Amino acid sequence: MNLQTITANHRYVVQSLSAVHRTESVHAAVRSGLTSWPKTLPPILFYDERGSKLFEDISELPEYYLTRTEQAILDRYAPEMATYCAGELLLVELGSGSSIKTRTFLDVLYAGDHRPIYQPVDISESMLHATAEELVGEYPELIVRAIASDYDQGLVEVGEQRDRQKVLLFLGSNLGNFSRTGAQELLWKVRQAMAPDDILFLGVDLMKPWPILQAAYDDARGVTAAFNRNVLVRLNRELHANFNLDRFRHEVLWNDDVRAVEMHLQSQGRQTVFLRDLDLLVAFEDGETIHTESSHKFTPDSLDRLCGSAGLRVEKSWTDEQGWFALNLIVPAVDSLT
Ligand SMILES: C[S@@+](CC[C@H](N)C(=O)[O-])C[C@H]1O[C@@H](n2cnc3c(N)ncnc32)[C@H](O)[C@@H]1O
Repeated sequence: MNLQTITANHRYVVQSLSAVHRTESVHAAVRSGLTSWPKTLPPILFYDERGSKLFEDISELPEYYLTRTEQAILDRYAPEMATYCAGELLLVELGSGSSIKTRTFLDVLYAGDHRPIYQPVDISESMLHATAEELVGEYPELIVRAIASDYDQGLVEVGEQRDRQKVLLFLGSNLGNFSRTGAQELLWKVRQAMAPDDILFLGVDLMKPWPILQAAYDDARGVTAAFNRNVLVRLNRELHANFNLDRFRHEVLWNDDVRAVEMHLQSQGRQTVFLRDLDLLVAFEDGETIHTESSHKFTPDSLDRLCGSAGLRVEKSWTDEQGWFALNLIVPAVDSLT
C-alpha cells in the first residue's frame, strides 16, 4: 500500500496516499470523464480545501435537511447504538469531513466504558489535519489514526486491523453518490474489511417529494452552485485549464430511472476549453452538461437489497419523525462469513 506517514503528534497521525499517485488518478479521471459522452467528473474532485469548506456551509443551510436530520437521529439514538459496541473499539469513519456528527457518538462512548481509537478516512487531507488536531484537544484520551485516501485504499488498510472490534461509520448518505453497481462494489469492500463481530452504521437519505430535494441541492443563496462550480476552479488551478465559470450554470434534476438527484454544470453556448496539463481540448455544445454528482435516494427495501447483494444485512434502522433519513445498523450476513 502506497501510504506515507506525513504528520505525527503524540496522539494523532495522518497517513497519506502519495501525492504522485493522487495526481495521476486525478488526471486519469478528468481525461476519461471529459472525453466520454455524456461528460462527467467524479464527485471526489469537489473536496479540495475550498470545496470542503463550502460543504460545511451547505450543511448549515435551512434547505439542506440531510445533516440536521441525521444529527437529530444520532442525538436521540446514539446511546442505543453504543450498546452494540465493544469496550475497546476502533471507530472507523468513511468520508468523515469535519467529524461534527462523530462527536455525538464519541460523547456517548466516553460516557460509557468505551475506549475508542478513531480512524477517519477522507480524501481531504487538509480537513483531516484540522479535525484531528481539534479532536485530540477536545477528547483528552482519544487517539486518532487518520488515513488521507479514497475509500478503496483506506478500506484495505482498515481491514488489516483485527485486534479490536471495528465500528464503521458511513454517514451523510455519502453512499448515495455511488451508482447502484458502485455502491454494491464499495459495500463489498466494506464487507471484506469487516470481521464477523464488526458493525457498520450507515446513514442513507430516503425518498421524498421533489420540491424538498430540489431546494436542498439548489439553495436560494447559491452555496451549492458555488460548490458545484468549484470543481472547475480546481481544474483551472491544478490542471491549468481555462474554464470560464460564468459560462457554466449549476443545474439540478431528478433522474427517476435510478432515483437520484443529479447535479450538472451546463454549458451556456458553444465553447471549447483547454486543459494544459492534459494537453486536452474539450468542445461543448450549447446546453451540454458535465454530470458532477448523483445523490441516490433509498427505500428500506432498496437498502435491504443493496446490502444483501454485498454480503451484508440490515439489522436495525432508526429514522426521524418524518421518515426522511435512516441510520442503519449493518452486519455481515451469516452466509457471507468466511
Ligand atoms: C458530503 S461530505 C460528508 C461529511 C460528513 N460525513 C457528513 O456527514 O457531514 C463527504 C465527505 O467524504 C469525503 N469523500 C468523498 N468521496 C470520497 C472518496 N471516494 N474517498 C474518500 N473520501 C471521500 C469528502 O472529502 C467529504 O469530507
